[in-house]
Amino acid sequence: MDTKLWGGRFTKPTHNLVDEFNASIYFDKLLAQYDIQGSIAHARMLAKCAILTQEEADTIVNGLQKIGEKIKRNEIEFQVADEDIHMNIERILQQDIGEVAGKLHTGRSRNDQVALDLHLYLRQQMVMVLEKLFNLQQALVNKAEQHLDTILPGYTHLQRAQPVRLAHHFLAYAAMLQRDINRIQDAYIRVNVCPLGAGAIAGAGFNLDREYVAKQLNFTEIYQNSMDAVSDRDFVVEFLSNSALIMMHLSRLSEELILWSSREFAFVELDDAYSTGSSMMPQKKNPDVAELVRGKTGRVYGALMGMLTVLKGLPLTYNKDLQEDKEGLFDTVKTLHDCLSLYAPMITTMKINDDAMHRAAQNDFLNATELADYLVKKNVPFREAHAIAGKLVLRCIEENIYLADLPLTTLQQYSAAFKEDVFPALRIEQAVEARRVIGGTARKAVEDQLKYVHQQLTSTQEWLRTHAELWSEPHPDFLW
Ligand code: ARG
Repeated sequence: MDTKLWGGRFTKPTHNLVDEFNASIYFDKLLAQYDIQGSIAHARMLAKCAILTQEEADTIVNGLQKIGEKIKRNEIEFQVADEDIHMNIERILQQDIGEVAGKLHTGRSRNDQVALDLHLYLRQQMVMVLEKLFNLQQALVNKAEQHLDTILPGYTHLQRAQPVRLAHHFLAYAAMLQRDINRIQDAYIRVNVCPLGAGAIAGAGFNLDREYVAKQLNFTEIYQNSMDAVSDRDFVVEFLSNSALIMMHLSRLSEELILWSSREFAFVELDDAYSTGSSMMPQKKNPDVAELVRGKTGRVYGALMGMLTVLKGLPLTYNKDLQEDKEGLFDTVKTLHDCLSLYAPMITTMKINDDAMHRAAQNDFLNATELADYLVKKNVPFREAHAIAGKLVLRCIEENIYLADLPLTTLQQYSAAFKEDVFPALRIEQAVEARRVIGGTARKAVEDQLKYVHQQLTSTQEWLRTHAELWSEPHPDFLW
């Protein structure tokens, strides 16, 4: 007869395919160190509440610590027959320290245990993801600072629209990443809540000190409703949704870098370290990293959809469907770590072709708005000014010249308001400098923006510092 930890009520063993189908140890072994961390806190609490003797608790804690060490040294083989990480560890503990191991699960269910593990795991991973987002943001800001005076075309509809500073372009992404950072910080508050003590559904039948468990594990709050604690995974959905946004932002930036490194643009060159060659075409240098980041965005969206769909029809409380919360989450965490780790140095080492950018901004009609604005400043109504500028652009296209090539006399045929001072106004440097509003492209406006971003960087750094104690515990490199 098989000897399942829950085997008491059963007279037949499970079908061996069911064993495999039901098991989550293939992937939830990643939670091992968090599971041990949570069990140690639970055992200490049981002793504090005199449910276990101090000696029993010490034996259990010692045993768990040793198992943790063995797992790190890769000395433990988990068994599918033991289904998941929780029962595998309990079984090993029993083998190591004997019968007293059976007391660990007092007042606890795997339902609150797995919820606890996920909270511990995600809380730590969120801090690490946030640190990587911060590094990328820093890389973008550095690049922006080096390219305050690099001018390139800004696009709408992927058509050249108005000239902008490259710094302004990069700072747009820095601002998006800032919101991503803030979203993670906000979601962190809801992950930093302790579910242990909820039991299977109705709360533990012992007088547990839930606050003591939460305190040992550095949680700032505890779940106030046991049914909520064991059944919801909204914190996972929230993380996946925030991850989807991060990937969406990275994917847009990737798309631009891929375009910009094409010969047609030649605005940037990605470092060899972040590019690959072709097995057939010797001339090729492909932006694979950027392409893969763009591609991997799909699997993160998929994980979000998957989790939402798993949850939508579930009656309270725990259902085995919830075991499906893990793979998509682990995969997303790994994807974020990989993408962000590569992205920051890829940005730092990327070469900028100032000349190509400047040429593209110069040799076109990016100053057409300037021409219209010039007339407006001479008291011509904007609609009329817009029409005049449009006609002049058309004329230039026919003559294969640019606006600044038109002689003053020609300009004056379209409006008497044109004077000699129109020519300096048409320079792209002037066009960029004319936008002095908050959020505009003038040097001073971009410098102010940089100051603002630096304040945000400082406050993120502060946040990271206060959460630093979590980084090393219990096993930060242990990924999917
Ligand atoms: N492996 C399970 C999971 O990941 C642990 C909880 C099992 N609970 C239960 N009542 N079968 O969700």
